[in-house]
Amino acid sequence: MALRCRACNGSNLIQFLDLGKMPLANGFLTEEEFENEKFYPLKVGYCADCEMVQLINPIPPEILFNEKYPFVTGSSKHMEVHFDELADEAIHLSNKRAPRLVEIGSNDGTLLARAKDRGARVFGFEPSRTADIANERGIRTLRTNFDMLAARNYIRHGPFIDIIVATNTLCHVHDLNNVLLGIKMILAHDGIFVFEDPYWPDIIELCAYDQIYDEHKWYFSVSSVMKLLDRHGLRLIAAHAQPTHGGSMRYWVRHKNWNEEPSILLPTRQIYESQYDLERLLDFQQEIEAEVKNLKATLQYISEGHRIAGYGATSKSTVILNLLGGEEQSIDYITDTTLFKQGKFSPGAHIPIVPPSQLRQDDINHIILFAWNHAQEIFENEQLVRERNIQWIFHSRKIKDEKLLQQ
Ligand code: TYD
Repeated sequence: MALRCRACNGSNLIQFLDLGKMPLANGFLTEEEFENEKFYPLKVGYCADCEMVQLINPIPPEILFNEKYPFVTGSSKHMEVHFDELADEAIHLSNKRAPRLVEIGSNDGTLLARAKDRGARVFGFEPSRTADIANERGIRTLRTNFDMLAARNYIRHGPFIDIIVATNTLCHVHDLNNVLLGIKMILAHDGIFVFEDPYWPDIIELCAYDQIYDEHKWYFSVSSVMKLLDRHGLRLIAAHAQPTHGGSMRYWVRHKNWNEEPSILLPTRQIYESQYDLERLLDFQQEIEAEVKNLKATLQYISEGHRIAGYGATSKSTVILNLLGGEEQSIDYITDTTLFKQGKFSPGAHIPIVPPSQLRQDDINHIILFAWNHAQEIFENEQLVRERNIQWIFHSRKIKDEKLLQQ
């Protein structure tokens, strides 16, 4: 049976990757919960019609974001600076002194608070309990998912919006078309929609296969985004690469009939992206298998004489650990600063999660960096890194080269 694209509804979705069965990437659990843990197939497809890369049969949101989901305010210092710059740039581009700014997936209101300080009239949509934190700090936030229905309710009473922001949100949404219909509905005629998400060609380029997990339902490129927006009466006017999440793209969007010329950046991007065609995608499975094999051999070799820990109980780590076929057990524990995760076990592999202070008590200096997207911040701030001769282990050789060069 032909697979259907969940973006354009065409019947030319081609599966190119199968990562086997995975537990919920963020399903950190207690020992009592081990026996009821569930596993789901993780497969990725490419739409030959609209170029959208997407999960095949994604897990429904009510299973993914259940009451045990670790909603955290996960912002790091680097991310705060990043949000500051984004708020500045968006307000500047809107050309208004007090623009109305809505954020979709506004979390604890970090970005909105920055925008408010700069004079914007802000409002957030956030389905998780972090919405309460935002409201407590005076950032008006509706605790709900943003979709067409939410947009219709909002616009019934509220004005059109000058700036809509969504960072690392669209790649997570189940019904992308529904969200875009809502955005189109509330965006002022001269408004700007800006969003950023991990950039698919960067994921392939770094062989960052750990970015592929249940919550990341869409893997955007400039080409697929242009086609998606076009179907919704919207137009991409610029795309700017960002270092966040190991490589993201920031997309600036207007209504299709907005009279601004498209950015000259876009054609160059499309030429660059044409090398990530189906033929290239079909090689990806083998590349991943080669990286996993290499990591297994590395862990096996080191664990013969040394102890190994993991740094950062990320969703990404769940993918890596569950591909290692038993070798993940050579990792003693994973440190993480998130209180909710400490004392629990990693999904599927059941490696204990402990506070970072554990590393000071033990004589461990081989550490697999699962939070590699924060490498720069960790290398700068972690005193341990300066005190000890840490031998970092990376799950992909390309990430290793890149991150160690930055150090
Ligand atoms: P995140 O970047 O959100 O990755 P993912 O989306 O794959 O879950 O998570 C980073 C995790 O790493 C988070 O649980 C906090 C932890 N962390 C540390 O333990 N120490 C650090 O210095 C940093 C920056 C993060």
